[in-house]
Amino acid sequence: MVVNLLMLLIVIAITIGAGWLTWRAVRAKRLWVKVVGGLAAGLLTLVFAAAAFTGGKGIAAIYFSGAKPAPDLKVAGSAEQVARGEYLVNLSCVGCHGAADAIGNPSGKSPLSGGWNIAEAEGLGFVGAMITENLTPGGKLAGYSDGEIFRVMRHSIDKEGRRLGFMAFLPYGQLSDEDTQAIIAYLRSLPPAETGGATGDQLNFIGMLLFGSGMIPPPAPAADQISAPPQGVTVEYGKYVATFGECAGCHGPDVSGIEATSMSPAVPNPRPIISTWTQEQFAEAMHTGVRPGGAPFSEAMPWQNASKMTDDDLAALYLYLTTPVK
Ligand code: HEC
Ligand code: HEC
Repeated sequence: MVVNLLMLLIVIAITIGAGWLTWRAVRAKRLWVKVVGGLAAGLLTLVFAAAAFTGGKGIAAIYFSGAKPAPDLKVAGSAEQVARGEYLVNLSCVGCHGAADAIGNPSGKSPLSGGWNIAEAEGLGFVGAMITENLTPGGKLAGYSDGEIFRVMRHSIDKEGRRLGFMAFLPYGQLSDEDTQAIIAYLRSLPPAETGGATGDQLNFIGMLLFGSGMIPPPAPAADQISAPPQGVTVEYGKYVATFGECAGCHGPDVSGIEATSMSPAVPNPRPIISTWTQEQFAEAMHTGVRPGGAPFSEAMPWQNASKMTDDDLAALYLYLTTPVK
Protein backbone atom coordinates (compact mmCIF):
# COMPACT_ATOMS: atom_id res chain seq x y z
CA MET A 1 0.00 0.00 0.00
CA VAL A 2 2.83 2.41 0.87
CA VAL A 3 4.34 2.04 -2.61
CA ASN A 4 0.98 2.68 -4.27
CA LEU A 5 0.33 5.74 -2.11
CA LEU A 6 3.80 6.99 -3.02
CA MET A 7 3.03 6.40 -6.70
CA LEU A 8 -0.18 8.37 -6.27
CA LEU A 9 1.78 11.27 -4.75
CA ILE A 10 4.26 11.18 -7.65
CA VAL A 11 1.43 11.19 -10.20
CA ILE A 12 -0.21 14.12 -8.39
CA ALA A 13 3.14 15.95 -8.33
CA ILE A 14 3.57 15.41 -12.10
CA THR A 15 0.01 16.65 -12.66
CA ILE A 16 0.77 19.83 -10.74
CA GLY A 17 4.10 20.24 -12.58
CA ALA A 18 2.44 19.77 -15.96
CA GLY A 19 -0.32 22.16 -14.96
CA TRP A 20 2.25 24.77 -14.04
CA LEU A 21 4.03 24.24 -17.41
CA THR A 22 0.71 24.65 -19.22
CA TRP A 23 0.10 27.93 -17.42
CA ARG A 24 3.62 29.13 -18.29
CA ALA A 25 3.23 28.13 -21.95
CA VAL A 26 -0.12 29.81 -22.34
CA ARG A 27 1.31 33.02 -20.95
CA ALA A 28 4.44 32.83 -23.17
CA LYS A 29 5.11 35.72 -25.58
CA ARG A 30 5.84 33.62 -28.67
CA LEU A 31 2.73 32.29 -30.38
CA TRP A 32 4.11 28.85 -31.24
CA VAL A 33 5.13 28.25 -27.61
CA LYS A 34 1.65 29.29 -26.56
CA VAL A 35 -0.05 26.88 -28.96
CA VAL A 36 2.27 23.88 -29.19
CA GLY A 37 3.58 24.05 -25.63
CA GLY A 38 0.19 24.85 -24.20
CA LEU A 39 -1.48 21.96 -26.00
CA ALA A 40 1.26 19.44 -25.17
CA ALA A 41 1.54 20.42 -21.52
CA GLY A 42 -2.24 20.70 -21.25
CA LEU A 43 -2.70 17.21 -22.60
CA LEU A 44 -0.06 15.87 -20.21
CA THR A 45 -1.86 17.56 -17.33
CA LEU A 46 -5.15 15.95 -18.30
CA VAL A 47 -3.60 12.49 -18.67
CA PHE A 48 -1.86 12.64 -15.30
CA ALA A 49 -4.88 14.17 -13.60
CA ALA A 50 -6.99 11.28 -14.89
CA ALA A 51 -4.38 8.77 -13.66
CA ALA A 52 -4.28 10.43 -10.24
CA PHE A 53 -8.07 10.38 -9.97
CA THR A 54 -8.45 6.78 -11.17
CA GLY A 55 -5.49 5.47 -9.18
CA GLY A 56 -6.80 7.22 -6.08
CA LYS A 57 -10.18 5.59 -6.60
CA GLY A 58 -8.51 2.18 -6.96
CA ILE A 59 -6.49 2.69 -3.78
CA ALA A 60 -9.67 3.66 -1.95
CA ALA A 61 -11.51 0.60 -3.29
CA ILE A 62 -8.78 -1.87 -2.32
CA TYR A 63 -7.24 -0.54 0.89
CA PHE A 64 -10.14 1.43 2.34
CA SER A 65 -12.99 -0.84 1.31
CA GLY A 66 -15.27 0.31 4.13
CA ALA A 67 -15.79 -3.33 5.06
CA LYS A 68 -18.29 -4.28 7.71
CA PRO A 69 -16.74 -5.77 10.84
CA ALA A 70 -16.27 -9.53 10.77
CA PRO A 71 -19.16 -11.40 12.44
CA ASP A 72 -18.72 -12.67 15.97
CA LEU A 73 -18.65 -16.37 15.25
CA LYS A 74 -17.31 -19.60 16.72
CA VAL A 75 -17.51 -22.64 14.44
CA ALA A 76 -18.25 -25.79 16.43
CA GLY A 77 -16.14 -28.04 14.19
CA SER A 78 -18.39 -31.11 14.37
CA ALA A 79 -17.52 -34.24 12.39
CA GLU A 80 -20.38 -33.48 9.95
CA GLN A 81 -19.09 -29.95 9.40
CA VAL A 82 -15.57 -31.18 8.74
CA ALA A 83 -16.84 -33.80 6.27
CA ARG A 84 -19.03 -31.30 4.39
CA GLY A 85 -16.17 -28.80 4.35
CA GLU A 86 -13.81 -31.41 2.96
CA TYR A 87 -16.24 -32.15 0.12
CA LEU A 88 -16.61 -28.48 -0.81
CA VAL A 89 -12.91 -27.64 -0.51
CA ASN A 90 -11.87 -30.62 -2.62
CA LEU A 91 -14.34 -29.61 -5.30
CA SER A 92 -12.92 -26.19 -5.89
CA CYS A 93 -10.42 -24.55 -3.53
CA VAL A 94 -7.80 -27.25 -3.95
CA GLY A 95 -7.47 -26.43 -7.67
CA CYS A 96 -5.95 -23.06 -6.81
CA HIS A 97 -4.77 -23.46 -3.21
CA GLY A 98 -3.15 -26.90 -3.57
CA ALA A 99 0.60 -26.68 -2.92
CA ALA A 100 2.45 -25.01 -5.80
CA ASP A 101 5.25 -27.08 -7.34
CA ALA A 102 8.88 -26.04 -7.74
CA ILE A 103 8.11 -23.74 -10.71
CA GLY A 104 5.07 -22.22 -9.05
CA ASN A 105 2.28 -24.12 -10.82
CA PRO A 106 -0.65 -25.39 -8.76
CA SER A 107 -0.56 -29.12 -8.03
CA GLY A 108 -4.29 -29.32 -7.34
CA LYS A 109 -3.41 -31.55 -4.40
CA SER A 110 -3.00 -31.39 -0.62
CA PRO A 111 -1.53 -29.80 1.37
CA LEU A 112 -3.43 -26.55 0.82
CA SER A 113 -0.27 -24.50 1.19
CA GLY A 114 -0.87 -22.30 -1.88
CA GLY A 115 1.84 -20.31 -3.64
CA TRP A 116 0.37 -20.09 -7.19
CA ASN A 117 0.59 -16.62 -8.76
CA ILE A 118 -2.70 -16.64 -10.61
CA ALA A 119 -2.35 -13.04 -11.82
CA GLU A 120 0.67 -14.11 -13.85
CA ALA A 121 -1.01 -17.33 -15.02
CA GLU A 122 -4.05 -15.38 -16.24
CA GLY A 123 -1.91 -12.90 -18.16
CA LEU A 124 -2.57 -10.18 -15.57
CA GLY A 125 1.03 -10.05 -14.34
CA PHE A 126 1.21 -6.34 -15.24
CA VAL A 127 -1.10 -5.53 -12.29
CA GLY A 128 1.23 -7.23 -9.80
CA ALA A 129 0.98 -10.57 -8.04
CA MET A 130 -2.08 -12.41 -6.70
CA ILE A 131 -0.73 -15.52 -5.02
CA THR A 132 -2.91 -18.20 -3.47
CA GLU A 133 -2.78 -18.41 0.29
CA ASN A 134 -1.76 -21.22 2.60
CA LEU A 135 -5.16 -22.31 3.98
CA THR A 136 -3.78 -24.75 6.58
CA PRO A 137 -3.23 -23.71 10.21
CA GLY A 138 0.45 -23.34 9.22
CA GLY A 139 -0.42 -20.14 7.29
CA LYS A 140 -1.88 -16.73 8.01
CA LEU A 141 -5.36 -18.09 8.85
CA ALA A 142 -3.95 -19.22 12.21
CA GLY A 143 -4.11 -15.52 13.10
CA TYR A 144 -7.73 -15.13 11.87
CA SER A 145 -10.84 -15.54 13.99
CA ASP A 146 -13.61 -17.78 12.58
CA GLY A 147 -15.58 -14.62 11.86
CA GLU A 148 -12.67 -13.14 9.90
CA ILE A 149 -12.42 -16.25 7.69
CA PHE A 150 -16.20 -16.05 7.28
CA ARG A 151 -15.83 -12.46 6.04
CA VAL A 152 -13.11 -13.57 3.57
CA MET A 153 -15.48 -16.14 2.09
CA ARG A 154 -18.60 -13.97 2.09
CA HIS A 155 -17.22 -10.53 1.23
CA SER A 156 -13.63 -11.12 -0.03
CA ILE A 157 -12.21 -8.83 2.65
CA ASP A 158 -9.03 -9.78 4.50
CA LYS A 159 -8.29 -9.36 8.22
CA GLU A 160 -7.03 -5.80 7.71
CA GLY A 161 -10.16 -4.78 5.78
CA ARG A 162 -8.53 -4.86 2.33
CA ARG A 163 -10.46 -6.12 -0.68
CA LEU A 164 -8.96 -9.35 -2.06
CA GLY A 165 -8.05 -9.09 -5.73
CA PHE A 166 -8.92 -12.53 -7.01
CA MET A 167 -11.19 -14.15 -4.44
CA ALA A 168 -13.69 -11.38 -5.21
CA PHE A 169 -14.29 -12.93 -8.65
CA LEU A 170 -15.23 -16.30 -7.21
CA PRO A 171 -18.76 -17.31 -6.25
CA TYR A 172 -18.16 -18.09 -2.56
CA GLY A 173 -20.12 -15.05 -1.40
CA GLN A 174 -23.19 -17.07 -2.39
CA LEU A 175 -22.40 -20.10 -0.23
CA SER A 176 -24.82 -20.66 2.64
CA ASP A 177 -23.80 -19.73 6.19
CA GLU A 178 -23.79 -23.45 7.01
CA ASP A 179 -21.48 -24.38 4.13
CA THR A 180 -19.18 -21.45 4.87
CA GLN A 181 -18.87 -22.61 8.45
CA ALA A 182 -18.26 -26.18 7.28
CA ILE A 183 -15.35 -24.94 5.16
CA ILE A 184 -13.90 -23.10 8.15
CA ALA A 185 -14.28 -26.25 10.28
CA TYR A 186 -12.42 -28.31 7.68
CA LEU A 187 -9.59 -25.79 7.21
CA ARG A 188 -9.12 -25.65 11.01
CA SER A 189 -8.92 -29.47 11.13
CA LEU A 190 -6.02 -29.71 8.65
CA PRO A 191 -2.49 -30.51 9.76
CA PRO A 192 -0.41 -27.32 9.55
CA ALA A 193 1.73 -27.09 6.39
CA GLU A 194 4.57 -24.65 5.90
CA THR A 195 4.16 -21.69 3.54
CA GLY A 196 6.62 -22.07 0.65
CA GLY A 197 7.11 -18.45 -0.40
CA ALA A 198 5.26 -15.17 -0.78
CA THR A 199 1.44 -15.36 -0.76
CA GLY A 200 -1.43 -12.92 -1.11
CA ASP A 201 -1.83 -9.75 -3.16
CA GLN A 202 0.96 -7.43 -4.20
CA LEU A 203 -0.87 -5.12 -6.58
CA ASN A 204 0.94 -2.24 -8.28
CA PHE A 205 -0.28 1.16 -9.43
CA ILE A 206 -1.47 -0.23 -12.79
CA GLY A 207 -3.61 -2.57 -10.73
CA MET A 208 -4.97 0.45 -8.87
CA LEU A 209 -5.79 2.09 -12.23
CA LEU A 210 -7.69 -1.02 -13.37
CA PHE A 211 -9.63 -1.30 -10.12
CA GLY A 212 -10.25 2.45 -10.02
CA SER A 213 -11.46 2.60 -13.63
CA GLY A 214 -13.98 -0.18 -13.11
CA MET A 215 -12.20 -2.40 -15.69
CA ILE A 216 -11.99 -4.88 -12.83
CA PRO A 217 -15.42 -4.30 -11.33
CA PRO A 218 -16.17 -4.77 -7.64
CA PRO A 219 -18.02 -7.94 -6.64
CA ALA A 220 -21.77 -7.74 -6.19
CA PRO A 221 -22.50 -7.15 -2.50
CA ALA A 222 -23.34 -10.37 -0.67
CA ALA A 223 -26.12 -10.89 1.87
CA ASP A 224 -25.20 -11.14 5.56
CA GLN A 225 -27.20 -14.33 5.96
CA ILE A 226 -27.66 -17.01 3.30
CA SER A 227 -29.42 -20.34 3.54
CA ALA A 228 -29.20 -23.05 0.88
CA PRO A 229 -32.22 -24.92 -0.49
CA PRO A 230 -32.63 -28.38 1.09
CA GLN A 231 -30.24 -30.96 -0.34
CA GLY A 232 -31.82 -33.22 -2.95
CA VAL A 233 -32.23 -33.87 -6.65
CA THR A 234 -34.22 -30.70 -7.33
CA VAL A 235 -33.85 -27.78 -9.73
CA GLU A 236 -33.32 -25.39 -6.79
CA TYR A 237 -30.57 -27.44 -5.25
CA GLY A 238 -29.04 -27.99 -8.72
CA LYS A 239 -28.73 -24.23 -9.07
CA TYR A 240 -26.89 -24.16 -5.75
CA VAL A 241 -24.61 -27.00 -6.96
CA ALA A 242 -23.84 -24.89 -10.03
CA THR A 243 -22.78 -22.11 -7.63
CA PHE A 244 -20.41 -24.03 -5.35
CA GLY A 245 -19.35 -26.20 -8.30
CA GLU A 246 -18.31 -22.93 -10.00
CA CYS A 247 -20.24 -23.50 -13.24
CA ALA A 248 -22.10 -20.23 -12.62
CA GLY A 249 -18.85 -18.38 -11.94
CA CYS A 250 -17.71 -18.97 -15.55
CA HIS A 251 -20.89 -19.67 -17.51
CA GLY A 252 -22.86 -16.79 -15.97
CA PRO A 253 -25.43 -16.50 -13.15
CA ASP A 254 -27.98 -18.69 -14.96
CA VAL A 255 -25.29 -20.93 -16.53
CA SER A 256 -26.49 -19.74 -19.92
CA GLY A 257 -23.19 -18.36 -21.19
CA ILE A 258 -21.59 -14.92 -21.07
CA GLU A 259 -20.34 -12.60 -23.76
CA ALA A 260 -16.72 -11.54 -24.10
CA THR A 261 -15.57 -8.48 -22.11
CA SER A 262 -12.43 -6.37 -22.35
CA MET A 263 -10.90 -8.62 -19.67
CA SER A 264 -12.15 -12.09 -20.61
CA PRO A 265 -13.27 -14.18 -23.61
CA ALA A 266 -16.85 -15.38 -24.10
CA VAL A 267 -17.98 -18.57 -22.35
CA PRO A 268 -20.54 -20.72 -24.21
CA ASN A 269 -24.04 -21.60 -23.04
CA PRO A 270 -23.74 -25.30 -22.08
CA ARG A 271 -27.50 -25.84 -21.77
CA PRO A 272 -28.34 -26.64 -25.41
CA ILE A 273 -25.77 -29.39 -25.68
CA ILE A 274 -26.50 -30.87 -22.24
CA SER A 275 -30.16 -31.05 -23.20
CA THR A 276 -29.19 -33.48 -25.96
CA TRP A 277 -27.43 -35.75 -23.43
CA THR A 278 -28.97 -38.26 -21.04
CA GLN A 279 -28.19 -37.88 -17.35
CA GLU A 280 -25.77 -40.81 -17.60
CA GLN A 281 -23.98 -39.18 -20.55
CA PHE A 282 -23.73 -35.92 -18.61
CA ALA A 283 -22.29 -37.69 -15.55
CA GLU A 284 -19.86 -39.58 -17.78
CA ALA A 285 -18.71 -36.36 -19.48
CA MET A 286 -18.19 -34.68 -16.11
CA HIS A 287 -16.25 -37.68 -14.80
CA THR A 288 -14.00 -38.16 -17.81
CA GLY A 289 -13.74 -34.72 -19.43
CA VAL A 290 -14.91 -36.24 -22.72
CA ARG A 291 -18.22 -35.34 -24.36
CA PRO A 292 -20.58 -38.10 -25.61
CA GLY A 293 -19.38 -37.52 -29.19
CA GLY A 294 -15.79 -38.21 -28.08
CA ALA A 295 -14.57 -34.60 -28.13
CA PRO A 296 -12.67 -33.71 -24.94
CA PHE A 297 -13.30 -30.43 -23.12
CA SER A 298 -10.57 -27.87 -23.60
CA GLU A 299 -8.19 -26.83 -20.80
CA ALA A 300 -10.44 -23.81 -20.18
CA MET A 301 -13.26 -26.05 -18.94
CA PRO A 302 -12.35 -27.50 -15.52
CA TRP A 303 -14.54 -30.62 -15.53
CA GLN A 304 -12.24 -31.98 -12.79
CA ASN A 305 -14.30 -30.06 -10.22
CA ALA A 306 -17.51 -31.75 -11.24
CA SER A 307 -15.81 -35.15 -11.39
CA LYS A 308 -15.57 -35.04 -7.59
CA MET A 309 -19.30 -34.41 -7.08
CA THR A 310 -21.62 -36.97 -5.52
CA ASP A 311 -24.04 -38.72 -7.89
CA ASP A 312 -26.94 -36.82 -6.30
CA ASP A 313 -25.26 -33.45 -6.81
CA LEU A 314 -24.55 -34.30 -10.45
CA ALA A 315 -28.15 -35.41 -10.91
CA ALA A 316 -29.42 -32.15 -9.40
CA LEU A 317 -27.03 -30.20 -11.62
CA TYR A 318 -28.28 -32.08 -14.71
CA LEU A 319 -31.88 -31.38 -13.75
CA TYR A 320 -31.13 -27.70 -13.31
CA LEU A 321 -29.19 -27.38 -16.57
CA THR A 322 -31.91 -29.12 -18.59
CA THR A 323 -34.71 -27.00 -17.07
CA PRO A 324 -35.35 -23.83 -19.08
CA VAL A 325 -34.20 -20.62 -17.38
CA LYS A 326 -37.16 -18.61 -16.11
C1 HEC B 1 -9.37 -19.52 -8.92
C2 HEC B 1 -8.42 -19.65 -7.83
C3 HEC B 1 -8.93 -19.72 -6.41
C4 HEC B 1 -9.89 -20.58 -5.90
C5 HEC B 1 -10.68 -21.64 -6.64
C6 HEC B 1 -9.96 -20.30 -4.50
N1 HEC B 1 -9.09 -19.30 -4.15
FE1 HEC B 1 -8.80 -18.52 -2.28
N2 HEC B 1 -7.39 -17.24 -3.01
C7 HEC B 1 -7.00 -17.17 -4.33
C8 HEC B 1 -6.01 -16.10 -4.45
C9 HEC B 1 -5.31 -15.67 -5.74
C10 HEC B 1 -5.82 -15.56 -3.16
C11 HEC B 1 -4.91 -14.41 -2.77
C12 HEC B 1 -5.69 -13.16 -2.51
C13 HEC B 1 -6.48 -12.72 -3.73
O1 HEC B 1 -5.90 -12.30 -4.72
O2 HEC B 1 -7.73 -12.85 -3.70
C14 HEC B 1 -6.71 -16.32 -2.28
C15 HEC B 1 -6.81 -16.08 -0.92
C16 HEC B 1 -7.60 -16.81 -0.06
C17 HEC B 1 -7.65 -16.62 1.38
C18 HEC B 1 -6.82 -15.63 2.17
C19 HEC B 1 -7.53 -14.33 2.34
C20 HEC B 1 -6.73 -13.32 3.13
O3 HEC B 1 -7.30 -12.85 4.12
O4 HEC B 1 -5.60 -13.02 2.78
C21 HEC B 1 -8.55 -17.54 1.86
C22 HEC B 1 -8.96 -17.73 3.31
C23 HEC B 1 -9.04 -18.30 0.75
N3 HEC B 1 -8.46 -17.83 -0.40
C24 HEC B 1 -9.94 -19.33 0.87
C25 HEC B 1 -10.43 -20.06 -0.22
C26 HEC B 1 -11.38 -21.15 -0.09
C27 HEC B 1 -11.90 -21.70 1.22
C28 HEC B 1 -11.65 -21.58 -1.36
C29 HEC B 1 -12.66 -22.63 -1.78
C30 HEC B 1 -13.99 -22.54 -1.23
C31 HEC B 1 -10.84 -20.79 -2.26
N4 HEC B 1 -10.13 -19.87 -1.54
C32 HEC B 1 -10.81 -20.96 -3.63
C33 HEC B 1 -7.45 -17.93 -5.38
C34 HEC B 1 -8.42 -18.92 -5.30
C1 HEC C 1 -13.09 -21.71 -15.34
C2 HEC C 1 -14.30 -21.52 -16.11
C3 HEC C 1 -15.30 -22.65 -16.24
C4 HEC C 1 -15.93 -23.35 -15.24
C5 HEC C 1 -15.70 -23.25 -13.75
C6 HEC C 1 -16.85 -24.24 -15.89
N1 HEC C 1 -16.78 -24.10 -17.25
FE1 HEC C 1 -17.80 -25.21 -18.63
N2 HEC C 1 -16.73 -24.32 -20.12
C7 HEC C 1 -15.84 -23.29 -19.96
C8 HEC C 1 -15.32 -22.91 -21.26
C9 HEC C 1 -14.31 -21.80 -21.51
C10 HEC C 1 -15.92 -23.77 -22.20
C11 HEC C 1 -15.66 -23.80 -23.71
C12 HEC C 1 -14.50 -24.71 -23.98
C13 HEC C 1 -14.90 -26.09 -24.31
O1 HEC C 1 -15.98 -26.29 -24.92
O2 HEC C 1 -14.15 -27.03 -24.02
C14 HEC C 1 -16.81 -24.63 -21.44
C15 HEC C 1 -17.59 -25.61 -22.01
C16 HEC C 1 -18.54 -26.36 -21.34
C17 HEC C 1 -19.42 -27.33 -21.95
C18 HEC C 1 -19.45 -27.69 -23.43
C19 HEC C 1 -20.29 -26.70 -24.16
C20 HEC C 1 -20.41 -27.03 -25.64
O3 HEC C 1 -21.29 -26.43 -26.26
O4 HEC C 1 -19.65 -27.85 -26.14
C21 HEC C 1 -20.21 -27.85 -20.95
C22 HEC C 1 -21.27 -28.92 -21.12
C23 HEC C 1 -19.83 -27.20 -19.73
N3 HEC C 1 -18.81 -26.30 -19.99
C24 HEC C 1 -20.42 -27.43 -18.49
C25 HEC C 1 -19.92 -26.94 -17.29
C26 HEC C 1 -20.43 -27.33 -15.99
C27 HEC C 1 -21.58 -28.28 -15.74
C28 HEC C 1 -19.68 -26.68 -15.06
C29 HEC C 1 -19.72 -26.78 -13.55
C30 HEC C 1 -19.53 -28.09 -13.00
C31 HEC C 1 -18.68 -25.89 -15.80
N4 HEC C 1 -18.89 -26.05 -17.14
C32 HEC C 1 -17.71 -25.11 -15.21
C33 HEC C 1 -15.48 -22.68 -18.77
C34 HEC C 1 -15.85 -23.13 -17.51
